[in-house]
Amino acid sequence: MNCKQIILLFTLQITIISLLQSANSQEQIDFAGGVCDESENVSTTSKYHNNIISLLDNFLNQSSHYKFFNASSGTGGDLVNGLYVCRPDVSLDTCHSCLEAAVDTFNQYCFGVKEIFIWYQECMLRYSNHTIFAILETKPWNSGHSNLNVSRPDIFPTILNKTLGSIIAKASMPNNEDRFAYDNTTFTAFEGLYGMAWCTPDITPSNCKRCLDTAFSRFSKCCNNALAQRASVHLPSCILKYDTAPFIFGYSPPQLAPSPSPSPSSSPLPSLSPLSSPSPSPS
Ligand SMILES: *[C@@H]1O[C@H](CO)[C@@H](O)[C@H](O)[C@H]1NC(C)=O
Ligand SMILES: *[C@@H]1O[C@H](CO)[C@@H](O)[C@H](O)[C@H]1NC(C)=O
Ligand SMILES: *[C@@H]1O[C@H](CO)[C@@H](O)[C@H](O)[C@H]1NC(C)=O
Ligand SMILES: *[C@@H]1O[C@H](CO)[C@@H](O)[C@H](O)[C@H]1NC(C)=O
Ligand SMILES: *[C@@H]1O[C@H](CO)[C@@H](O)[C@H](O)[C@H]1NC(C)=O
Ligand SMILES: *[C@@H]1O[C@H](CO)[C@@H](O)[C@H](O)[C@H]1NC(C)=O
Ligand SMILES: *[C@@H]1O[C@H](CO)[C@@H](O)[C@H](O)[C@H]1NC(C)=O
Repeated sequence: MNCKQIILLFTLQITIISLLQSANSQEQIDFAGGVCDESENVSTTSKYHNNIISLLDNFLNQSSHYKFFNASSGTGGDLVNGLYVCRPDVSLDTCHSCLEAAVDTFNQYCFGVKEIFIWYQECMLRYSNHTIFAILETKPWNSGHSNLNVSRPDIFPTILNKTLGSIIAKASMPNNEDRFAYDNTTFTAFEGLYGMAWCTPDITPSNCKRCLDTAFSRFSKCCNNALAQRASVHLPSCILKYDTAPFIFGYSPPQLAPSPSPSPSSSPLPSLSPLSSPSPSPS
């Protein structure tokens, strides 16, 4: 089985598991994707593995109090670094439930794996043997999308470009410490276009923009050439998502004070180019 198959299988299985999970809990916790590189296993009796377990225990505890947390466990060659982040608009209860779901996912599918990336709609969790805090990481990545296409593929690319471009700019404003933006525009008389841009808050605004621009460029490689009605791209440092229907409710953007210096927005969005190979898998 190659890496791509493992990831795909993992994604399908988890979707079912997380549907079962969310049926049992009051809040909706939605699985978005995961990458566990099983070519790099560690023994479950190793110190490194024990450090993973105590790191995740710690995260479960912290997620009742903090929406973002980074920590390491162990020393030397057994050191594991990790972080989680919950979406800024969710409650701490939801944050904790999301971490529980993510740790369940780890237990079921990533036990004994050296480095993992798990994305939910409400939280992200990752750990690694190398340093991850404050470092922009755009690989590996994966994506999800609806099989249905938008009603106006002729005008959609331009609207998507403009709308996500503005949402990406909002999420990467220096004074937006959440590194998060959710916004909408009208698309046709019947459809809206809702977008979310979300970076882990440890990276700088300019790295956040780089991550989201990279995510944007991935849409054309994964998601019916960026014509799907709903699509999301997940990178270690950010998630970018759009839908023609609303998907976040009750979010009110923080009132941001004007930024002291205008954010550097000179680099244009990568343009949507036709896909050459329809591969949704990380490289
Ligand atoms: C890693 O562990 C998984 C199960 O946890 C197993 O399916 C996979 O084959 C292992 N990979 C290697 C390279 O041993
Ligand atoms: C998490 O909290 C529980 C209960 O407060 C405690 O027993 C446990 O030791 C804590 N674990 C960690 C890793 O802090
Ligand atoms: C966790 O974050 C702090 C900054 O808040 C940083 O100084 C520290 O190095 C980080 N720890 C790890 C293990 O990444
Ligand atoms: C992390 O693990 C990889 C793969 O086993 C190894 O090549 C790398 O040197 C390790 N990095 C650190 C900082 O230990
Ligand atoms: C965005 O959505 C809100 C709530 O659904 C709505 O009130 C608003 O008019 C929408 N804005 C645009 C530009 O469509
Ligand atoms: C959606 O658009 C893609 C890319 O243009 C196309 O390959 C696919 O067949 C379309 N799907 C449907 C259901 O129309
Ligand atoms: C997207 O917008 C950028 C400028 O922000 C432009 O360079 C690019 O050509 C646009 N792409 C499409 C498909 O409209």
